[in-house]
Amino acid sequence: MPKSMDAIMALCKRRGFVYQASEIYGGINGFWDYGPLGAQLKKNLRDAWWQDMILNPCWGRQGPDGDRVRCVPLETRIIQHPKTWVASGHVGGFNDPMVDCRETKNRYRFDHVSVFVPASGDPGDKPLFAFIQGSPSEAKQLKKAEKAFGQAVVVPLTSIPPASFPKVLGPDADKVGTLTEPRQFNLMFKTYVGATATDDDVAYLRPETAQGIFAQFKNVVDTTRVKLPFGIGNTGTSFRNEVTPRNFTFRSREFEQAELEFFCHPDQSMEWFAFWRAFRMDWWESLGLAGENLRLYDTPKKDLAHYAFAGSDVEYRFPFTDPGFGELEGIAHRGSFDLSQHQEHSGIKLDYFDQELQVELQAKGVAKEEIAKRARYIPHVIEPAAGLDRGALALLCEAYTLDDSRPSPELLRLHPRIAPIKAAVFPLVNKDGMPEVAQRLHADLFKRFGHSGLIELDAKQSIGKRYARMDEAGCPFCLTIDGETLTHQTVTLRDRDTGRQERIAIDQVPSLLADKLAP
Ligand code: GAP
Repeated sequence: MPKSMDAIMALCKRRGFVYQASEIYGGINGFWDYGPLGAQLKKNLRDAWWQDMILNPCWGRQGPDGDRVRCVPLETRIIQHPKTWVASGHVGGFNDPMVDCRETKNRYRFDHVSVFVPASGDPGDKPLFAFIQGSPSEAKQLKKAEKAFGQAVVVPLTSIPPASFPKVLGPDADKVGTLTEPRQFNLMFKTYVGATATDDDVAYLRPETAQGIFAQFKNVVDTTRVKLPFGIGNTGTSFRNEVTPRNFTFRSREFEQAELEFFCHPDQSMEWFAFWRAFRMDWWESLGLAGENLRLYDTPKKDLAHYAFAGSDVEYRFPFTDPGFGELEGIAHRGSFDLSQHQEHSGIKLDYFDQELQVELQAKGVAKEEIAKRARYIPHVIEPAAGLDRGALALLCEAYTLDDSRPSPELLRLHPRIAPIKAAVFPLVNKDGMPEVAQRLHADLFKRFGHSGLIELDAKQSIGKRYARMDEAGCPFCLTIDGETLTHQTVTLRDRDTGRQERIAIDQVPSLLADKLAP
């Protein structure tokens, strides 16, 4: 049975993971804020990405070239020169044509709407029945269509000429002819740079972090010692004026991305694509998204962008997509499209001179002119593009557990690396010297692990209630100071997932926790 999204959202609000943005003003559709625990959870996810993609890429694995993978970080701005978005294709093509229903006020993506039409062809004076595949409108409209004209077949709304829209019954409408003609919506947020706010000052909030990387490719190559193949990683906020934001933080209008652009020789690009495809799946699994809720979906060739050589999505089975899956990260083989586009639009050469290839070709006795041609090229790019908000949401959904055998049934089984609270220290009672020992242990743990998350000290209410509070916040380890601590210098270490407690020497707590919290 899928987990209840309502229960997950309620816990997120109650425990300070996620709040509706501007809630005191009634909220603003498509925007979410992170509370104290959510902000730390997302930072832990971002840090894990940064560590495993940039500082120690792919956990030190060798790439297909037999060397360790090399990556460098970058931080680029939300507002780029507007030509960036012309070159990337976002100004011209980042559009979803939509149709509105004048009766229900629902808005649909034009290419998502299907229509039941008579198998015989001519509907006469009968309506055409529009629906969204997989939604309740499908069965409802099929029933009506079969009643109206017997056997029905499905065609896309895009194949119906707008002149026939007055005959279409919208997916959720009662009256015929309420769908508007399709209209283009550009998903980029517009703003103005400078005080005058004229058309010449128009700029855009970035819809992806990737383009900042392409725009700085030349600077990175010229000012650092990187050699192909290598990656440039960038995390940050992106904005899309999504027409239908929905499913909690899954489709938001402001969200955070963690994108890597990996540059390589065109001849090796398919091998690198396969490498990144496998590693990104392993990475999400390592954070606890293992099992049947995670899958890799290869984009069919016909659905790839015209410039892309291949694409796969890491997908997670969210409660609201169950039994289907929703995209968590896209891994795209973008060929040389982006660098070529920026080269053309900026007039600046963005090719790469491969000195190692030059030496190799010289050793093979290849002619000078041929070397000059082959050793200079526009690299191909493999792009693993993850969403940190979707990542955090998937981790929360996976971690959410309802265990009726517990006195407090709701808990979050978050991976220790991601958990916002790493450990909690409790004096069993607030007397007999226990609070002082607890404070000392808390201070020690805070010094050692405080950089990676919160260390709590809690002396309020019964010990059972304190455990339950920590379980619900996803804290993996609770340490209790009791009578034996004072006589034998031991504490109990309680595991969140099993509820089991073991007694350990107090001076061993830091090293034991270090082991348990290690990636
Ligand atoms: N540079 C490539 C790119 O941006 P994308 O598939 O459009 O690719 C990458 O976005 C990731 O960003 C997605 O897999 C998803 O996790 C996240 N993302 C995209 N749109 C989002 C939205 N409206 N709300 C939350 N996350 C989103």
